[in-house]
Amino acid sequence: MDGRARGYGTTARLLHWLVALLILLMIPAGYLMTGEGLARGTRDALFLFHKNVGAALIAVVALRLVWRLTHPPAPLPAHLPAWQRRAAGLSHAGLYVLMVVMPLSGYVRVRAGGFPIEALDRIGLPGLVPRSDALAQAASNLHAAAAWGLIALLALHLAAAAQHALIHRDGIWQRIWPPIRRG
Ligand code: HEM
Ligand code: HEM
Repeated sequence: MDGRARGYGTTARLLHWLVALLILLMIPAGYLMTGEGLARGTRDALFLFHKNVGAALIAVVALRLVWRLTHPPAPLPAHLPAWQRRAAGLSHAGLYVLMVVMPLSGYVRVRAGGFPIEALDRIGLPGLVPRSDALAQAASNLHAAAAWGLIALLALHLAAAAQHALIHRDGIWQRIWPPIRRG
C-alpha cells in the first residue's frame, strides 16, 4: 500500500465532499435569490433551499469538526516544502472557521429578522435568538462579508488542488479522492 495515498479515512472524505457539494450550491443560490429579475416562485424556492439546507449544514459541519478532532489525517508527505504545509494548515483552518460562521450568521439573520426556517419549524425547534432588527442587520452584514472571504479561500483551495492533481501529481489529490477510500 502506498502510504502517501491513504490520507483521509472514508468518513472524513464523505464529509468533505458532502459539505463541498452543498456549499458550492449554497453560494450561487445565495446570490441568485438576492439578485434582480427572478420570478417570485423561483426566488421562493431558492430561499427555501438556502435556509433549510443551510440550517442542515450547521449539524453536518459540527459532525465534521468533531470527526476531524477525533480522527486526525495521516501527515502530509515529507516532500512538501514547509511554506506549503503552513499555507495548507492556515487555509484549511480559515475554511473551517467560515464553514461555521456562514450558516450561523445566516441562521441569526433569519431568526432575528422574525422569518421562518420551515424544516426547523416543522420539527418544533424554536428560534434561539431574540427578534431584533439591529441583530438581523449585523448578521446580514457578516454573512455577506464572510461569503467573500469564503469565495477567496475556495479559489485558493481549488487552485492548489488542481495543481497537485494535474501538475505535480504528488499523491495529495488521492488523500481525499475518491470519496470512499479503497483498501
Ligand atoms: C471541488 C471542490 C473541492 C476540491 C477539488 C477540494 C480538494 C481538496 C483536497 C485535495 C484536499 C486534501 C488536502 C490535504 O491533503 O490536506 C482538501 C481538504 C480540505 N478541503 Fe477541500 N476541496 C473542495 C471543496 C471544498 C469546500 C467547498 C470546502 C469548504 C468550504 C473545503 C474544505 C476543505 C478542508 C477544510 C480541508 C482540510 C481537511 C482537514 O484537514 O481536515 N473543500 N480539499
Ligand atoms: C455554508 C452555508 C451558507 C453559505 C455558503 C451561504 C451563502 C450565502 C451567499 C453567498 C449569500 C448572498 C450574499 C449577499 O447577499 O451579498 C447569502 C445570502 C443569504 N443567506 Fe446564506 N449562506 C449559508 C447559510 C445560510 C443559512 C443557514 C441561512 C438561514 C437559515 C442563510 C440565509 C441567507 C439569507 C436570508 C440571505 C439573504 C441576505 C440577507 O437578506 O441578508 N444562509 N448566503
